[in-house]
Amino acid sequence: MKSLVVYYSRKGSNKFLAQKIAADRGSDIVELKPLGNSLFSIIMSSLFKTPVPLQKISADIASYDSVYVCGPIYMGQLISPLATFIKKNKKTIKSLHFVTCCGGGEAEKDGKFGYNSVFNKVKEIAGPACLSCEAFPIDLIIPDELRGNDEAVMNVRLSSETFSGAIVEKYNQYIQKM
Ligand SMILES: Cc1cc2nc3c(=O)[nH]c(=O)nc-3n(C[C@H](O)[C@H](O)[C@H](O)COP(=O)(O)O)c2cc1C
Repeated sequence: MKSLVVYYSRKGSNKFLAQKIAADRGSDIVELKPLGNSLFSIIMSSLFKTPVPLQKISADIASYDSVYVCGPIYMGQLISPLATFIKKNKKTIKSLHFVTCCGGGEAEKDGKFGYNSVFNKVKEIAGPACLSCEAFPIDLIIPDELRGNDEAVMNVRLSSETFSGAIVEKYNQYIQKM
């Protein structure tokens, strides 16, 4: 089974997650690079659901059995680089697995900024090609005493140093399932 990991990341957490999945699944990996990449423009295009021009990627999407799409959540949105990529390739992607390292965890998942509405959006766009959606929230690597602290959620990054405990268990279960 040939797989590709496509990711967008600003601060590195989703890059770490994407690289880990690619290493464990033996996947090729490409980074999505919007031509205008300020945080402000990404947030605005995500909120207004306008496509963003992406640098052409070298991978031939049609040649992959499955594509992992990985990136953060901003303002409760399926962010524009990921939405643009999925919309553009939805007819070509055979099976899509959406993965996010986001801020909000299990407790917030159904709220305005939670990951469930983003998962629903991915399923709405990709249709039956979307086989799974999974979140690896930063919340899982925050020490108990800082849980629920927005500043901690914004400042902690997923990396080889912080990848431990509950998130590793969740990740290992995910990789086994795939
Ligand atoms: C402006 C902004 C808005 C965010 N909004 C959300 C949100 O609505 N829901 C959420 O779960 N996380 C939210 N986050 C947290 C990011 O999804 C999280 O920090 C993510 O891991 C960043 O990924 P990166 O390190 O790959 O760039 C937000 C972060 C920023 C900077």
